[in-house]
Amino acid sequence: MIGRTNGRPISITGLGCHVPERILSNDELATLVDTNDEWIVERTGIRERRIARDDEALTDIALPACRRALAMAGVEPSTIDLVIVATVTPDMAFPSASALLADELGMPDAAAYDLSAGCTGFVYAIAQAHAMLAAGLARRALVVGGDVLSKILDWHDRSTLVLFGDGAGAVVIDRVDDGGFLGFELGADGGGGANLWLPGSGSRRFEDPDKFVKMNGREVFKFATRVMVSSAEAILDECGLSIEDVDVYVPHQANVRIIDHAVRKLGVPAGRTVVNVDRYGNTSSGSIPLALADAADDGRLESGKLVLLTGMGAGLTWGSALIRWTHDTTGALA
Ligand SMILES: CC(C)(COP(=O)(O)OP(=O)(O)OC[C@H]1O[C@@H](n2cnc3c(N)ncnc32)[C@H](O)[C@@H]1OP(=O)(O)O)[C@@H](O)C(=O)NCCC(=O)NCCS
Repeated sequence: MIGRTNGRPISITGLGCHVPERILSNDELATLVDTNDEWIVERTGIRERRIARDDEALTDIALPACRRALAMAGVEPSTIDLVIVATVTPDMAFPSASALLADELGMPDAAAYDLSAGCTGFVYAIAQAHAMLAAGLARRALVVGGDVLSKILDWHDRSTLVLFGDGAGAVVIDRVDDGGFLGFELGADGGGGANLWLPGSGSRRFEDPDKFVKMNGREVFKFATRVMVSSAEAILDECGLSIEDVDVYVPHQANVRIIDHAVRKLGVPAGRTVVNVDRYGNTSSGSIPLALADAADDGRLESGKLVLLTGMGAGLTWGSALIRWTHDTTGALA
């Protein structure tokens, strides 16, 4: 799916993020599985990640992010009429995380549903919210991207354990006078799905004792390096823009080698790429909002800047969004 937006401008008017307190370093991981800091840093760029407490679920991490996003946008929770949560680790299959959050936040008029698109979830969800507002079905949306992957990792499997962390971000999506979303490109390849999957989690193999993430790292790496480039090129072309026009490039934070490859192939000018995978690891749907929060705090995400988001992940899925930034979003981390 690819398209340029038309009609009334719609944008991100508030941003909030939250990560668990507990920091897990590479050295600590090396006491759990056969790995070491040098290997992890060289192959992934990750130095540490945040890990949820036993009693912390997705909505616990997402709630402070939502409150921060709403406060930044300066809107009452009750004025939100659409909540979409992009996650593969909701508190439970149902009720949805979005319905639980809408209730907790006080949004009685909101439609609320979860969306499953792996690490691309946040990009899918902002496209959905944009479409609902553009069609006149919703007035104001709250979109959350977040995951607690630590709960579904095999803590004996070094091939996945070193990569992931927990975190969440939320944005308020609203009508604006000018700027905002310019276009989206989204795609999926279920044929490659078994390269990154959770076998015992649904109606096919629910009884399967295997309740942990399984991954073919090399295949996912090949897929990622391909789509991170093709998706970004496609949306730039669709919108009649070039990579030199992009002020802030926010790639999904999976692995610094994947990011470096995309930067090289796309020709992203120096100093325009946001990287924080070293501090958070891959937080799945939380990764892009967390990177946006960093860019804002670095003073890079000013009003008028052209922002390119590109994600990829389980599904396999990928997606890009181009946004003419409209609002000051500094201080998003709650
Ligand atoms: C997982 C990943 C980091 C592995 O890096 P790689 O360079 O492909 O490494 P390989 O799998 O080829 O393994 C190289 C060696 O390191 C070893 N190794 C694997 N994981 C290790 C770990 N955590 N610590 C130490 N050694 C490890 C392997 O056993 C192998 O040893 P060998 O050469 O003796 O056989 C990389 O494939 C990757 O990032 N893939 C994409 C994953 C991803 O981003 N998933 C989420 C998408 S949203």
